[in-house]
Amino acid sequence: MAIPREKVLDNSITLMSEGYNYILNRRRRYQSNIFQTRLLGQKVICMGGEEATEIFYDEDKFTRKGAVPNRIKESLFGKNGVHVQDGADHRHRKGMFMSLMTAERLSELMDIAEKQWEIAIADWQQKRRIILFPEAEKIMCRIACEWAGVPLWANELDQRAHDLSAMIDAFGAVGPRHWQGRTARNRSERWIKTIIEQVRSGQLKPREETALYTIAWHRDLKDRLLDLQTAAVELLNIVRPTVAVGRFVTFGALAMNDFPETKKKLQKGDETYTRMFVQEVRRYYPFGPFLGAKVRNQFKWGGHHFKKGTLVLLDVYGASHDPALWEKPDEFQPERFKEWNGSPFDFIPQGGGDYDIGHRCPGEWLTIDLMKVSLSFLANRIDYTVPKQNLNYSLVRVPSIPKSRFVMQDVTIR
Ligand code: HEM
Repeated sequence: MAIPREKVLDNSITLMSEGYNYILNRRRRYQSNIFQTRLLGQKVICMGGEEATEIFYDEDKFTRKGAVPNRIKESLFGKNGVHVQDGADHRHRKGMFMSLMTAERLSELMDIAEKQWEIAIADWQQKRRIILFPEAEKIMCRIACEWAGVPLWANELDQRAHDLSAMIDAFGAVGPRHWQGRTARNRSERWIKTIIEQVRSGQLKPREETALYTIAWHRDLKDRLLDLQTAAVELLNIVRPTVAVGRFVTFGALAMNDFPETKKKLQKGDETYTRMFVQEVRRYYPFGPFLGAKVRNQFKWGGHHFKKGTLVLLDVYGASHDPALWEKPDEFQPERFKEWNGSPFDFIPQGGGDYDIGHRCPGEWLTIDLMKVSLSFLANRIDYTVPKQNLNYSLVRVPSIPKSRFVMQDVTIR
């Protein structure tokens, strides 16, 4: 049985115009979890669903080499980072990231987050209005740098947070938004390189358990230090995505606003509910649309012969909105996570499979913890009003964010 094939010369423009729903729309139309199309001038297989995810994370079948377009490396990821490594090299580098995520370090992160939120809300109280999204990104930037051991001067906060934000904002963009991301990456890499040089020369002495120390002194499988450029890319792979958590915080505030009964439940301070709420925010709202990999060794699956070198896209947004996996996927229901079995292949907003072996996001626990602290803060420590504004978010703009960036008014501390 052949898989559905789109009879088009190239579907890149349609992909841009359908955004997050591009793959899911076609999985529905063709009633198939796999189909073939053409994007950016090449044949591409798109797939989704739990079984497809398990296949996608099989290291024998797929490689990340050559799967990330240059424009994404130039803005979001940087070059030669862990995202595009394979095999033993990847496992070794990934071990470095995973070693930073101990229970002690995550608990320290939550303490830092509490402190930074306290500082921020004291300031918000003095202002009539604040825009949550850029404020949350600045708070995340402070938390990220303090936790990672990266010095951040008060007078550089705005620029650094702006640049880290611009790299994230560039990932689905062409034109000016992409170029802003590139400029932001170049400036951020220069900043971080200087800091790593200071560590290596002994001028700066970060604590041993920090990301700055760990990455500056990390040795590869040949016992060599990372070159300065790669070390900067990897340290930015800690700081930048921590700033990205500001997007989920903004969507969490939107959820409390749009589904006020959930805010009331959060205010009861029940840890289990808070966790379910955070999971539902990560499921319901759009962030990454899909992931790409190339066929490493040919294989057959789902009625299709996967030829070596073919680009395959895995539906990430669709996994969270697939009615085969979630009952009423378009309803915001934190309680659904009571029943969730914790499968590594059905809920993949930060990738799936195994953390140590595969490419699944090493910052997933950190993200959940940071969202728990931040959203509890918004629900329980302050009162505010939400003035009339355009809170719609697009499913075409990637990455998405509410149009008004969530304006809050008359913030008072409880
Ligand atoms: C990988 C999403 C937060 C560090 C990934 C992947 C996704 C993702 C989709 C790719 C998985 C794959 O290729 O299979 C997110 C989202 C975040 C987030 C939506 C929250 C807004 C974080 C944080 C950190 C982090 C807080 C670090 C502190 C990384 C790294 C990788 C990665 C280093 C590459 C892992 C590898 O290739 O083995 N993330 N992430 N992320 N993430 Fe995150």
